[in-house]
Amino acid sequence: MKFEQMMRSTLAAAALLAVVGAAQAQGVVKLGMVAEFSGPFAQYGQQMLGGMKAYMKQNGDTVAGKKIEIIQKDTTGPSPDVAKRLAQELVTRDNVDLLVGFGLTPNALAVAPVATEAKKPMVIMNAATSIITTRSPYIVRVSMTLPQITQPMARWAAKNGIKKVYTVVADYGPGLDAEKAFGEAFKAAGGEMVGSVHTPLQNPDFGPFIQRVKDAKPEAVFLFLPAGEQGIAFMKGYKERGLAEAGIKLIATGDITDDGVLEAMGEPTLGLITSFHYSAAHDSPENKAFVKAYADANGTGLRPNFMAAAGYDGMAAIYEALKKTGGSTDGEKLMAAFKGMKIASPRGAIMIDPETRDVVQTVYIRKVEKTGGGLYNVEFDKFPDQKDPGKT
Ligand code: PHB
Repeated sequence: MKFEQMMRSTLAAAALLAVVGAAQAQGVVKLGMVAEFSGPFAQYGQQMLGGMKAYMKQNGDTVAGKKIEIIQKDTTGPSPDVAKRLAQELVTRDNVDLLVGFGLTPNALAVAPVATEAKKPMVIMNAATSIITTRSPYIVRVSMTLPQITQPMARWAAKNGIKKVYTVVADYGPGLDAEKAFGEAFKAAGGEMVGSVHTPLQNPDFGPFIQRVKDAKPEAVFLFLPAGEQGIAFMKGYKERGLAEAGIKLIATGDITDDGVLEAMGEPTLGLITSFHYSAAHDSPENKAFVKAYADANGTGLRPNFMAAAGYDGMAAIYEALKKTGGSTDGEKLMAAFKGMKIASPRGAIMIDPETRDVVQTVYIRKVEKTGGGLYNVEFDKFPDQKDPGKT
């Protein structure tokens, strides 16, 4: 082959490769997942990803002619600096089209400016401090906010004869949101707040805090702790220090009776009343299909919790948005598609508020009961169409 001929065929091959590469890139939507996959909060990433996989198991991995690809990154816990660096790498090196995941508030807050700068939608599948969605116009949240979940608990408690409450909350965004929302709604309904404590987010020792509650002799303690292992430790302390025997009721957001750890907390949870947006025992065809798809995709080792439901709904929102944009991943177009979107979620019907990009949903009052061969949060009352009250 003459030199010139050789050059020509090499160039032709290179051009062909470039065309094939572009076509491939065009055919893929990349989701960069930033979440907690190790350390004490490792179940957050596992549950959210499990929910996403359940959706893909049920609906296939292609939508609007595009193949969905997930790239996972581990923040290792509440590590805002790590979360931010991982998000930056996902955007600049991996060229992701959307950022997804986010179990813990500090991680979500740290990534918000990255989403804004890159003009990439950021789909929050848990982090629940009210203010998060105001930190970037590219954020949409499919999970919940603490004020949204907490206010119904305060109203229910006041209506059901509880007059004096002490609050115990984790000392960071969602806990402070819960404390404020509970206090305001409870006082507005005629109740009295008799004290409050904040517990550390990392490695808390609940004993001394529980003793303080006992000494203050409230009628009930309202509790917010981030879902998972902390609930197990708190329930142990509540039992050991005899609060129930002292006549002090426990009420909480459903984070404490998280479906992922409820069995591990065991019998002391029986009768515990919580307010929340999702229960694995929610009685609907959508939830039955979700629980089955979750087991099909992930095995039966872990019961899906609210983070799994949000992972599943986050994927539903992304699929619906891509259908609306005809497969375009343009950030503005996707955000427009999310606004006002309605989804038949395993938790019941939900909507993305077009103004706040936060989820509007029913909040249920539930009680832990032994049913269906295990401990479950059984819904018995509800507050429909709850928006995030933190935004008004
Ligand atoms: C949060 O960090 O926003 C968070 C974490 C766990 C929860 C709720 C909120 O259960």
